[in-house]
Amino acid sequence: MLSGKDYSKYFTAPDLKEAKKRGKEDIQVLQFDQIPEEMQGVGAGKKYMIETYGCQMNVHDSETIAGILEQMAYTRTESHQDADIILLNTCAIRENAEDKVFGHIGSLKALKTEKPNLVLGVCGCMSQEESVVSRILQKHQHVDLIFGTHNIHRLPHLLFNALMSKEMVVEVWSKEGDVVENMPKVRADGLRAWVNIMYGCDKFCTYCIVPYTRGKERSRRPEDVLNEIRDLARQGYQEITLLGQNVNAYGKDFSNITYLFGDLMDDVRKIGIPRVRFTTSHPRDFDDHLIEVLAKKGNLVEHIHLPVQSGSSEVLKLMARKYDRERYLELVAKLKKAIPDVVLTTDIIVGFPGETDEQFAETLSLVKEVEYDMAFTFIYSPRDGTPAAKMQDDVPMEVKKRRLAKLNDVLNEISKKKNSILQGQVVEVLVEGESKKNPDVLSGRTRTNKLVNFVGPKHLIGKMVYVSIEKAQTWTLKGKWVEEVSKSPVA
Ligand code: SAH
Ligand code: SF4
Ligand code: F3S
Repeated sequence: MLSGKDYSKYFTAPDLKEAKKRGKEDIQVLQFDQIPEEMQGVGAGKKYMIETYGCQMNVHDSETIAGILEQMAYTRTESHQDADIILLNTCAIRENAEDKVFGHIGSLKALKTEKPNLVLGVCGCMSQEESVVSRILQKHQHVDLIFGTHNIHRLPHLLFNALMSKEMVVEVWSKEGDVVENMPKVRADGLRAWVNIMYGCDKFCTYCIVPYTRGKERSRRPEDVLNEIRDLARQGYQEITLLGQNVNAYGKDFSNITYLFGDLMDDVRKIGIPRVRFTTSHPRDFDDHLIEVLAKKGNLVEHIHLPVQSGSSEVLKLMARKYDRERYLELVAKLKKAIPDVVLTTDIIVGFPGETDEQFAETLSLVKEVEYDMAFTFIYSPRDGTPAAKMQDDVPMEVKKRRLAKLNDVLNEISKKKNSILQGQVVEVLVEGESKKNPDVLSGRTRTNKLVNFVGPKHLIGKMVYVSIEKAQTWTLKGKWVEEVSKSPVA
């Protein structure tokens, strides 16, 4: 067991104030080290389990964590009982996301008592919050390891410390962040892959915790991104999704080259991978060159997720979104003109502090005007340390719930209408697997990310096929298999 002094070596707690600072220093690009000798093979005969909450960024971070653990010879399990290490990769975006994690940490206490050698770790965005770490220290002493979003590459060392020590190992860096290349990854399937193009967020929307948990906006070098994508293409991946909290800000941080998101997309377009998606777009940085490049289509799909958050310019101002209703609608008009079959989806928050009935009505009218095919909708959740958490909020929860239900009704009606237009049309579907409900049915997605179910032979799994749409529902389309797509749309 370590002495108190040694223990302090493994303890760096998060600090939201530090995390907020933004400096002018250049971004450091680090290379992932070899697994240290003492940790090589440490997982032989042992199993790991990762439970992931939150956005695609976290899903992809879990693939990196899995990559590191497998390099240490651990193998994956989906069973708590079989696991020698359980990591919870957490999300801090809303209170209910955090509640779920705390509930789960509590429920794992019995397992830890039963299996004292189990290593229980908490990582991801919640670890970057002071309040979370102090609550775990006080109430959940059965946790062995806490690390954050900036030091995933340190996992071999941290795990070593956790295995050696009987105290909780906490290492969270509240910094702007580096870019770490060459991290190992275990991707979920051989079909679709996530590719980080940038990390962090500098937008500081007043309700949002992400700029504090993920550090400053920093882009991966173009050659690193393009090489990763070329490599995925060679391995036979059919679809990639470029990831960033605000992909449109890609390249704005480069000091020695001029190369923005539009330039990157134009280069990715020339790589032989059939489908390229990206998420998430911020309306503020969506420039004309990018629109021009997206309009060339090919492997760049005609689907843009463009979070609006609110239809009221007053609320948008309080949210510090840095655009107003008019500018957003102008951008939508430009996109629809340049890409006539574009599918737009969005994120909306209802019940922002002080939101009036009139302001909410503006959100409804914007939704009807844009005609989104789909939207993620949320009730505003105050996040400690963000400016909005200090704003006066006189809107009762009942009203917020009613607004959410109303908004979802309107959105569902539009989704159904938009989907019904596809009835009778033949669409290209990337077949992902058997449908969850019925193994005789295959399911896959269109270029615009709509879920399609159809009856077809199993050998189509992993292939691109044409499906004739027979029935449109609110969230899914039912169709009939026509034929395999003979060659990929990209030469
Ligand atoms: N970077 C992305 C989204 C990140 S979070 C973007 O800017 O679009 C995903 C969504 O969660 C946001 O778009 C927003 O709609 C929602 N969200 C973020 N913070 C929230 C909060 N405090 N309460 C409720 N919803 C929130
Ligand atoms: Fe959060 Fe705004 Fe950044 Fe999106 S752009 S991650 S909502 S601060
Ligand atoms: Fe959640 Fe962090 Fe993503 S807060 S939404 S996991 S960036």
